[in-house]
This record gives sequence, structure tokens and C-alpha cells, in this order.
Amino acid sequence: MTEENTDYMQIIENRRSVNFFDSSRELEDGLLTKIINRSVLAPSSFNLQPWKLLAVKSQEKREEIYNSGACEQQKVIDAPVLLIVTGDMTGYRRYNPMWDEKKNLGKLDEEKLEKIIEQCEQGIYPDEAKKIGFAVRNSSLLAMNIMNTAKYYGVDTHPMIGFSETKIKEMFDLDENVVVTMLISMGYFDEEQELDPRETRLKYEDIVEEF
Ligand SMILES: Cc1cc2nc3c(=O)[nH]c(=O)nc-3n(C[C@H](O)[C@H](O)[C@H](O)COP(=O)(O)O)c2cc1C
Repeated sequence: MTEENTDYMQIIENRRSVNFFDSSRELEDGLLTKIINRSVLAPSSFNLQPWKLLAVKSQEKREEIYNSGACEQQKVIDAPVLLIVTGDMTGYRRYNPMWDEKKNLGKLDEEKLEKIIEQCEQGIYPDEAKKIGFAVRNSSLLAMNIMNTAKYYGVDTHPMIGFSETKIKEMFDLDENVVVTMLISMGYFDEEQELDPRETRLKYEDIVEEF
């Protein structure tokens, strides 16, 4: 599971949610940075990139997460890095510095910008459910890029929603507009273990309706 995969189809086929991590293998220095700096090429609404990551490398902190509602998922402890992927429910508002880039590039002036933000506020993300959708949609695309890019570098991953969002938010003192989208364990598969074969996937004829 740890060989480098440089072919895109191979990456897609070989990425698995790895349940067993080798707790004796760390990620080499700089590798996480490389993975993240490629993964941020993920698309996002208006290129606003309304996401933040917490990279939990401390064993102590990972144990704390394990013990506070991570559904006894051993991978939280065994994998050397636990990424907490978060999205910003109001990341379309004016405080997002990406708006300034558009302004500086001459793509928008302040007046147009305020109109777009107003449209977002009133029309696209008027309630909490829509705001959560904004945060989760955008940050989930980043998360998928992280898992595939990690695989490119031979790093295995496991996404999880089995955790207590409230406890994680408390532990890291996260703002109320932050959604904890998922956790991703990152490290190397424990070669002494065996993964169950991949479960079947629904295919074109099962999921696509043509019009
Ligand atoms: C958003 C999300 C949340 C998940 N949460 C968990 C989890 O909490 N615990 C777990 O063991 N697996 C979790 N999984 C892993 C899935 O069970 C796994 O991706 C699926 O069975 C397909 O297997 P594969 O990724 O190896 O192809 C999650 C996957 C996703 C995408």
C-alpha cells in the first residue's frame, strides 16, 4: 500500500480507507506540506477556499480526540497525523481575503463585490442549512484531493465522520461558524494486517438518469 502511484487511474483504484496504520512510521519531514500545497488546487466557490485544516501530530492530542467521542477508532491513535478538515459557513463574507485578490486583479470593484456577497447572504446561503452546505461542499472537495494526493505520495488515509463535533470544537476552540467536515487519518498501512476487499460500487446504470 505504500508504493508511489503516479498514474491517475492507479491512484483512484489503489486509494482505500485504511483501517490499520503502522504506528511506528512517521510521515517524512515536509511531506504533509507537499500534499496540502497540491491539494489546495481543489475548486471552490468563487475560489474563496473557505477551509482550514488542523494537523494533529501530537499523540497526546490524538488520544484526547480518541477518548472524546471518536467512536473508538484506533486509527485516530495509530496514524501519525490526524487532519481535521473544517469549512467556514460564512466564508463568502467580506472578511475572506480572497475577495481582495479579485479586487486587486481588477476583476471586481467594491460595489460589485458587495452585491455578490448580498446575493450570497440573501439568496444562496440564507439559512443555516445552506451555510453548512457551503462549508461542507467546498471543504469536502479539498478532502478528496488530499486523499488522492496523499496516495500519489504513497501515503494512506482514512476519512471519518464518526466523532463528536462539539467536543472537537471545544478542544481546539473553533468559532461557531466553523463546521468540522471530517477527520482524515494519514500514515502508512500496517502491512501485517489485511484489508477487506473493496465493497462494490453502484455503476452508471444504477446512479445516472439521462435526460
Ligand atoms: C465522509 C466520510 C465519512 C466516513 N466516516 C467513517 C468513519 O467514521 N469510520 C470508518 O471506519 N469509516 C468511515 N468512512 C470510510 C468509508 O466507510 C469508506 O470510504 C467506504 O467504505 C469505501 O471504502 P474505500 O474508501 O476503501 O473505497 C467514511 C467515509 C467518508 C467519505
